[in-house]
Amino acid sequence: MIIKKWVIFNTKLYFLLYSHASLYLCNPSDVQVGPWVYLVYVFYTFSDTAQDQLKLFKKGSFLGQYPLVQNVTVTEGGTANLTCRVEYNDNTSLQWSNPAQQTLFFGDKKALRDNRIELVRATSSELTISISDVSLSDEGRYTCSLFTMPIRTAKAYLTVLGVPAKPEIEGLTKPALEGDQITLTCSSQGSKPAADLRWFRNEKEVKGAKVVNPMGKTFTVQSFLQLQVDRNDDGVAYTCRVDHVALSQTPQQATEVLEVHYAPRVEINPLHSVPLEGQYLRLECVSKGNPSPDPVMWTKDGGDLPDIERMIVEGRDLTFTSLNKTDNGTYRCEASNHLGTSSAEYKLYVYDPNAVGQHGTDHALIGGVVAVVVFVTLCLIIVLGRYLARHKGTYLTNEAKGADDAPDADTAIINAEGNHAHAEEKKEYFI
Ligand SMILES: *[C@@H]1O[C@H](CO)[C@@H](O)[C@H](O)[C@H]1NC(C)=O
Ligand SMILES: *[C@@H]1O[C@H](CO)[C@@H](O)[C@H](O)[C@H]1NC(C)=O
Ligand SMILES: *[C@@H]1O[C@H](CO)[C@@H](O)[C@H](O)[C@H]1NC(C)=O
Ligand SMILES: *[C@@H]1O[C@H](CO)[C@@H](O)[C@H](O)[C@H]1NC(C)=O
Ligand SMILES: *[C@@H]1O[C@H](CO)[C@@H](O)[C@H](O)[C@H]1NC(C)=O
Repeated sequence: MIIKKWVIFNTKLYFLLYSHASLYLCNPSDVQVGPWVYLVYVFYTFSDTAQDQLKLFKKGSFLGQYPLVQNVTVTEGGTANLTCRVEYNDNTSLQWSNPAQQTLFFGDKKALRDNRIELVRATSSELTISISDVSLSDEGRYTCSLFTMPIRTAKAYLTVLGVPAKPEIEGLTKPALEGDQITLTCSSQGSKPAADLRWFRNEKEVKGAKVVNPMGKTFTVQSFLQLQVDRNDDGVAYTCRVDHVALSQTPQQATEVLEVHYAPRVEINPLHSVPLEGQYLRLECVSKGNPSPDPVMWTKDGGDLPDIERMIVEGRDLTFTSLNKTDNGTYRCEASNHLGTSSAEYKLYVYDPNAVGQHGTDHALIGGVVAVVVFVTLCLIIVLGRYLARHKGTYLTNEAKGADDAPDADTAIINAEGNHAHAEEKKEYFI
């Protein structure tokens, strides 16, 4: 900026302003400011942008007859308001023109035939127009002109955001086979600026490889995800989400659920730990495969099940209604689907319940303990009964004591409930 000249003048300030159509700065720190004296710098400005003008306005006490505009960002299909303001205007006309230099509005008069462009407000200090159904081709520099001498202009940049299309996922083979290497490709067109694509495996983010291709004014964005599928991927949902400034409320996404076929895997779970002769036994055959291998095949020592009466195959399980020593052997459960066959084996030893000596000792021991406990309890009851019969007056207190003396809670209850009856019996017996 260059200072052109100093001017000191009084209330005629406004006249001068209008006639010069320049920017004037009143700088109080440079001179004594009296009630009727103004000091004014006259500027030539080399910049027409709104920002520079704003800066000057904020710095000091400016009085300017300048158009002021702001950049506008709008989503494709939306409506943009272009506002041009003049702080101090003497009814000089304002005009908006488009990037192709065509006049849109001159004051409140429409100049270009375009139904999308409408007048919002036209006053001496403001000219606001709106452009509805904005398309990408509307983007560019719009000019607001103030018809002073010389003409003052300000340029507002209209940025149009391209809305990304709903993403599409490709490359999925349905069903995929376990071990397959597949590449999922997610693509979304029409974003501006280029959208971001993110992958999620059942809600958990996984990293893909992004490629951005410019397509005219917009971008086609692709993201690749390489997968080595296994049985754990069966039924897993892969989601591709588009993140973009134009999609603040409703994120666009696409989801594909993987279907993986795999050969069965078989396991046998016995539902008893020590099979005893005469007992019931169930062998559970757990087979997982896709497609589901059903039914399974049970064999004994490489041949058919010998006794169909006692060995019942129910669903996938083999049930022995009553085990016999002759059932000893290797049982095999086999499952297959079109991808393969799998089997599991179980070696059955049927134990003689009488020969299982250890268990016998256990029972004898438990029986002995129970006998001792019962004997001790009985003795206690008898002793207490006699005691109560002799101390009728302290009956209630003794009942409570019985509970305290008892070795455990059960005995306490037996004591508490039984005392009364025994007390009566004993009384009769002893008298
Ligand atoms: C444009 O201006 C009009 C009138 O002031 C207002 O109703 C509308 O919401 C504005 N639109 C935008 C996108 O700012
Ligand atoms: C602007 O125009 C209005 C009406 O046309 C008039 O009343 C007003 O005095 C004018 N203002 C200036 C500063 O010329
Ligand atoms: C307006 O947008 C243009 C072009 O994008 C940019 O150069 C300029 O700095 C912007 N002005 C403001 C005030 O943001
Ligand atoms: C076991 O099988 C044999 C031969 O079939 C039979 O004689 C025997 O009674 C069976 N034992 C039991 C406990 O069922
Ligand atoms: C079955 O297996 C048990 C345990 O190994 C064994 O004691 C028993 O003699 C076997 N019975 C037959 C008939 O092989």
